[in-house]
Amino acid sequence: MDKLVINGGNTLHGKIDISGAKNAALAIVPAAILTCDVCRIENIPNISDVSIMFRILSELGASVRPIDANTVEIDSRNVQFFTVPYELTKHLRASYYFIGALLGRFGKARVAMPGGCNFGGVRPIDQHVKGFELLGSKVTIEENAIVNAVSDQLIGSAIYLDTVSVGATINIMLAAARAKGLTVIENAAKEPHIVDLANFLNTMGADIRGAGTDVIKIHGVSELHGCTYSIIPDQIEAGTYMVAAAAAGGDVLINNVIPKHLESITAKLVECGVEVEEFDESILIKSDGRPRHCNVKTMPHPGFPTDMQPQIAVLLSIAEGTSIINESVWDSRFRYVEQLTHMGASIKVDGKMAVIQGVEHLKGAPVKADDLRAGAAMVIAGLVASGTTEVENVVYIDRGYEDIVGKLRSVGADIQRVPIVDPDTRVRVS
Ligand code: UD1
Repeated sequence: MDKLVINGGNTLHGKIDISGAKNAALAIVPAAILTCDVCRIENIPNISDVSIMFRILSELGASVRPIDANTVEIDSRNVQFFTVPYELTKHLRASYYFIGALLGRFGKARVAMPGGCNFGGVRPIDQHVKGFELLGSKVTIEENAIVNAVSDQLIGSAIYLDTVSVGATINIMLAAARAKGLTVIENAAKEPHIVDLANFLNTMGADIRGAGTDVIKIHGVSELHGCTYSIIPDQIEAGTYMVAAAAAGGDVLINNVIPKHLESITAKLVECGVEVEEFDESILIKSDGRPRHCNVKTMPHPGFPTDMQPQIAVLLSIAEGTSIINESVWDSRFRYVEQLTHMGASIKVDGKMAVIQGVEHLKGAPVKADDLRAGAAMVIAGLVASGTTEVENVVYIDRGYEDIVGKLRSVGADIQRVPIVDPDTRVRVS
C-alpha cells in the first residue's frame, strides 16, 4: 500500500500529455473478442483497470501481447470460454461489457455481477438486461449474482433506454454488432467513448451510425475482422489537470486532447475567471488569484461530466463566494466532502446538492481517496493547500490515472508516492 505525499503551494508551469481514454479502452478491449482475428490497439492508458480487462481476456483464452507501453495486440482466435468469475469482475464495473461482447461472439455469457467504484448509492443494470432481452436473449440472475445470458441467434430490435446510460448503450452496441438485422437504440448516451467504440467496431467491419447522437442504428453483420485502432484522449484526465492548474495557479498546456470534448469544463473554468486558450490538440490554462464562484449541474454528455464533479468542487471550495453543485447523474456522490472539510473546506450537502462557501485557503491533512475521482480531487486539494497532505487509498487513483505523480512533478508539483509503513514493525503495509 502506498500513499501520496503532497507539499502544497507550488504553482504549476509546463506541459502535460494526456493518455488514452480509460472509459473508451474499457469498452474497446472487450470488443476485441467480437472477432476471431487480431486487433492492434494503440494509445491504451497504462492503468490498473485496463490491466484487469487484459486478465479477463487471458482467462477467456485470448492472448494479449504488449507491443510497447501503450500498444497491445489482442488475438481472440482461441477464445473458448464464456464465464467471467467474481474474482475478476469484483475489481471493476466495466467487466460487465463482457456480457455484451460474449453474447455477440458466442450467443452466451456467464458473468458475475460487477464491482467497481461505489459512489455510495445503487448502480442498477436493468437497462442492460432489457437490451439483451429485446435482442432475443434469455437473461437470468443466478445464485452468487451471476448474470447468465443465452441466445440461439440475436435479432436486431428497437430499444428505448428509460434512462441515459453509458454502460447500457455500450453493452447493447457490443451485442448488436453481430446480431441479425437492425437494432435502433433510442435515448442513447452520447459520451465521446460511445463514439470511439462505434468507430472501433466500424473499423472491424461493423455498420453503426449515429453514435454521438441519441439514436444509434446498428445493422448487424455476420463477421468482424481484425484492425488497428488508436484510442481517443481521456476527457476526464484532461479535465482533472485543467482544474488542477486552475486551482493551483500558473500556466499549463494540456496536450493531446480533443478540445470539443472539454467544452463543458472549459465553460465552467471561464465562468470562474480562469484564462483558457484552445488550440487544435491542446488547451492552455492560465490562472492567478482566487477563482470566482459558479454553479455546476452534472448531466450526461454534452453536459458537465459527473466524473469531474469532485475535482471542480475543490476549485469552488477556494473560490470567492458561494457555489452550488447539483449532482443529477448519481443518487449519491458527495462522500469525499468529509475529507475536504478536514482540509478546511466549508461544504454543506443536502441530498443531491452541495452548497460550497468558498474559503481563502485549504490546509494540508491526512485524507483518503473514497473512489477514483474523489482521489483525484484530494490530490488537487493537496496541491492547493498549505502544508503537507497525505492521500491514502492510492489504488483507486491508479485505476484511472497513468503516472499522475510523474505528470504533476513535471509541471512543478511537490508530490511523491511513498510506501505506507507500520510504525511498530517498520514493515511496509500490503
Ligand atoms: C459510466 C462511467 C462512469 C460515469 C458514468 C456517468 C465507465 C466505465 N464508467 O458509468 O465513470 O460516472 O458513466 O457518466 O464508462 N442506470 C440505471 N439502470 C441501468 C444503468 C444505469 O438506472 O441499467 C442509471 C445509474 O444508476 C445512473 C445513470 O443511469 O444514475 C447513469 O449510469 P450509466 O451512464 O450507466 O453509468 P456507467 O456506465 O455505470
